[in-house]
Amino acid sequence: MAQIQIKNLQKTFSDFTAVKNSSLILEDGKFVVLLGPSGCGKTTTLRMIAGLEFPTGGQILIDQDDVTYRRPRERDVAMVFQLFALYPHFNVRENLAFPLKNEGLPKAEIGKRLDEVAAILRIEHLMNARVGGLSGGDRQRVALGRAIVRKPKAFLMDEPLGTLDAEFRELMCVELRKLHDRLKTTTVFVTHDQNEAMALADHIVVMNRGEILQADTPEGIYHFPSCMFVASFIGRPPMNFVPINEVVLQGRDEVTVAGASIEVPRLNEACSKTVLGIRPEHIRLSDHGPVRGEVAHVEYFGSHWITEVMTSAGRIKAVAPKGAVPAVGCHVGLGFQTERIVMFNQETELLLASATTSHHQQGMSHG
Ligand SMILES: Nc1ncnc2c1ncn2[C@@H]1O[C@H](COP(=O)(O)OP(=O)(O)OP(=O)(O)O)[C@@H](O)[C@H]1O
Ligand SMILES: [Mg+2]
Repeated sequence: MAQIQIKNLQKTFSDFTAVKNSSLILEDGKFVVLLGPSGCGKTTTLRMIAGLEFPTGGQILIDQDDVTYRRPRERDVAMVFQLFALYPHFNVRENLAFPLKNEGLPKAEIGKRLDEVAAILRIEHLMNARVGGLSGGDRQRVALGRAIVRKPKAFLMDEPLGTLDAEFRELMCVELRKLHDRLKTTTVFVTHDQNEAMALADHIVVMNRGEILQADTPEGIYHFPSCMFVASFIGRPPMNFVPINEVVLQGRDEVTVAGASIEVPRLNEACSKTVLGIRPEHIRLSDHGPVRGEVAHVEYFGSHWITEVMTSAGRIKAVAPKGAVPAVGCHVGLGFQTERIVMFNQETELLLASATTSHHQQGMSHG
């Protein structure tokens, strides 16, 4: 168990900065997911926590202990690599025992730990099987087992489910989360898949271009995005953005969208160029909704339909009511759930206000 802290962490490769001045406290016992698009610096951040890469600036502390320039072995954290980083010609027991033999643990202790891990992962019956002959799921369990037997202070995982098919990934997500609920070992998990992040995380850290944009609970990230990037990266289809080119005064709470007057949360400061953000599921489609438009497209998502409506303020997506999916070309009205509207600054793309901002407690500290 461990608290991991990164302070003003920076990593520059020749003239390219992969991680920019990032600070974050990962609380003891939490499952934290680093989420962001390809190249945003997730792996680089994780490798610095693991000690596989040294930062060019800043510090890493594990339980208040500065480990920034310590070697991986001296940090007591376990990196869980992808599925097949096992010795295929060894059996499961030998694979699991390997890191413990390396540490020079006595035979009796090794035996005890292997029994424990086999029971936790329910692989007792596989202990003498060769890894090369196992199914993907069983191999993944063994790979996890190899990290667990060491009883490290923290698990670090870089897209460990990346090579698995969708159905199996979901299964492994559930298993990983259950395992974490039992072991409560601080875990840092890297992915670019928002569904994986939502399913697993106590806290999500959204990164882009080497910067931490938001660190929060999954609900916080979804409902109170810190900026337009986070708002559009999370949720499918993404949040609707409607540019508002009228001065929104401090304390004023109405804007015009496609000729209709819409109540918005009060801004703390006046802003002449804002963006109104609202998710498709927070718009009611009806005959008398105030924002008028024509259905341009309908898309089926299994559990619901999404309609795309052409309005004079641009295309707006909304969830269609069950059993009343309008046809393309129909004239419809959109009713915004005003308490769900968030306002951004058009220039900085940062959150200006949301109806419930003041009630929302930040889940993690970062800056
Ligand atoms: N050794 C290196 N030398 C030069 N550039 C590097 C090196 N390692 C990483 N980078 C660059 O740093 C940036 C961040 O890389 P990183 O691997 O951390 O991204 P990532 O978020 O893990 O992306 P992905 O989702 O594709 O794995 C990328 O632009 C990458 O090309
Ligand atoms: Mg990566």
